[in-house]
Amino acid sequence: MKFFIDTADIEEITQAQSLGLVDGVTTNPSLMAQTGRDPIAVTKEICKLVTGPVSAEVISTDFEGMYSEAQALAEIGPNIVVKLPLTIDGLKTCQKLSNQGIKTNVTLCFSANQALLAAKSGATYISPFVGRLDDIGQTGMDLIEEIKVVYQNYSLPTEILVASIRHPIHLKEAAMIGADVATIPYSVMTKLISHPLTTIGLEKFLADHAKSSK
Ligand code: G3P
Repeated sequence: MKFFIDTADIEEITQAQSLGLVDGVTTNPSLMAQTGRDPIAVTKEICKLVTGPVSAEVISTDFEGMYSEAQALAEIGPNIVVKLPLTIDGLKTCQKLSNQGIKTNVTLCFSANQALLAAKSGATYISPFVGRLDDIGQTGMDLIEEIKVVYQNYSLPTEILVASIRHPIHLKEAAMIGADVATIPYSVMTKLISHPLTTIGLEKFLADHAKSSK
């Protein structure tokens, strides 16, 4: 499973890289807004910082605007992935970009049918938002299972990029299902590592060693 970090915060990306856990980065307009900086400048900095795929989302909602933004984003670097919302214009843009060999990440996916349309549009990645489905009382991970079945049935190459991850259980379940990628907030990434029994066990090892070396 590939680990992408879901942030536009340079410091978080740098910290996560030091853990060796960054295969790529995903951003979105909300994450960019949190930086208080120019999104293009932040995107350029991230693309220099990491070698893996960097998803940057268009703001336009019409095909012409999306396509124009996408071309500008693609010029930033070879690891740019253009993020497009799952709308008619987003899918049209995805088809055009895919035909040009520009990688795409179709986002704000909330149904298997949407995921099927994105794959038929040539999306490189599909981003189903599991946390937001949980927020409305549905089971977000059920959608990941459905998409996995649909994509396997037809050998669709689009990679399932689980997004809107809120806690370590989301990650475990995504891995159990066999999702290709998980995009993980840094706050969740740091929770993956620790377990109280590991801490207790290490403390005992060290205490026993200390006793034996007296
Ligand atoms: O990549 C999408 C992700 O940032 C959305 O997460 O927690 O706002 O649903 P969230």
